[in-house]
Amino acid sequence: MSARSRDLPRRSCLSVPGSSEKMMAKAATLPADMTFLDLEDACAPLEKPGARPKIVEAVKNNDWGDRVLCVRVNAWDTEWTFRDVIEVVGNAGERLDEVMLPKVQMASEVVALDLLLDQVEKEAGLPAGHVGIEAQIETARGLINVEEICAASPRLEAIIFGPADFAASLEMPVLTGGVQIPEYPGDHFHYVFSKILMAGRANGLQVIDGPFLKIREPDAFRDYCQRTRILGYDGKWALHPDQVAILNEVFSPTQEQFDRACAILDAYRQATEEDRKGAVMFGDEMIDEASRKMAVKFVARGEQAGLRRSEPADA
Ligand code: GLV
Ligand code: MG
Repeated sequence: MSARSRDLPRRSCLSVPGSSEKMMAKAATLPADMTFLDLEDACAPLEKPGARPKIVEAVKNNDWGDRVLCVRVNAWDTEWTFRDVIEVVGNAGERLDEVMLPKVQMASEVVALDLLLDQVEKEAGLPAGHVGIEAQIETARGLINVEEICAASPRLEAIIFGPADFAASLEMPVLTGGVQIPEYPGDHFHYVFSKILMAGRANGLQVIDGPFLKIREPDAFRDYCQRTRILGYDGKWALHPDQVAILNEVFSPTQEQFDRACAILDAYRQATEEDRKGAVMFGDEMIDEASRKMAVKFVARGEQAGLRRSEPADA
């Protein structure tokens, strides 16, 4: 795993075609927490070989700030994966944090990438284990095997749901991936979201929701983001620059939540350390050790998002 990127926020994960130098240059100026330069579906087959050196140049020459920087390679069932890894990871240097592997169906695919990365890192003079892995779950078999996949390598940093390919894999009668289906009485992906979340969290991974393809519908996008945010996902993909700001807002705690979490931690500290009580009243509700754990997460995410505790009204 990449020591640098493992715990960095991934509220907004921006997809950029690796065949477009212009779009990669623009992407470096956008405030996405994570950016991935795509050799897979955003890159036409005829463009893939030529995109590899373009990605290497973009990784080296654009100023990516602190963000998580990733390349999405092609899946193992194509002819491109090994060259994607050798040519991009072998030449891009230490600034490349991770490789994203799409359409992962079995744990052995992650193991194969891990072993290839061992060799490429050695030859390129990169620190051993420097490059992290993000794995996409986007087929029925991938979902069935998600628990083993999430435990397949210490390089894994994030597990991602790919709704468009997943809908195709399931043969759902839809033509747009990753959007609400009004005819369905509920959330057609609830089981999938939950299963991936459990497997990811059980293995200490960040858990990311994939794309929303109606990029001209910001309100519907904001609304749809709430599904995975409320479940506990860390972030979601952006396919367009306008989606980035929405994600950074939706996947951050509000100031009110942040202040309340800080106050819960204060009250719990006082209860346990000074009053020697395990559970106490906080306003109208009882708080205990589990409340502390929930509050700690809010505070950590809020601090990462740049929030600071509000001054009390009478201060
Ligand atoms: C993303 O890759 C998807 O298929 O939704
Ligand atoms: Mg896909």
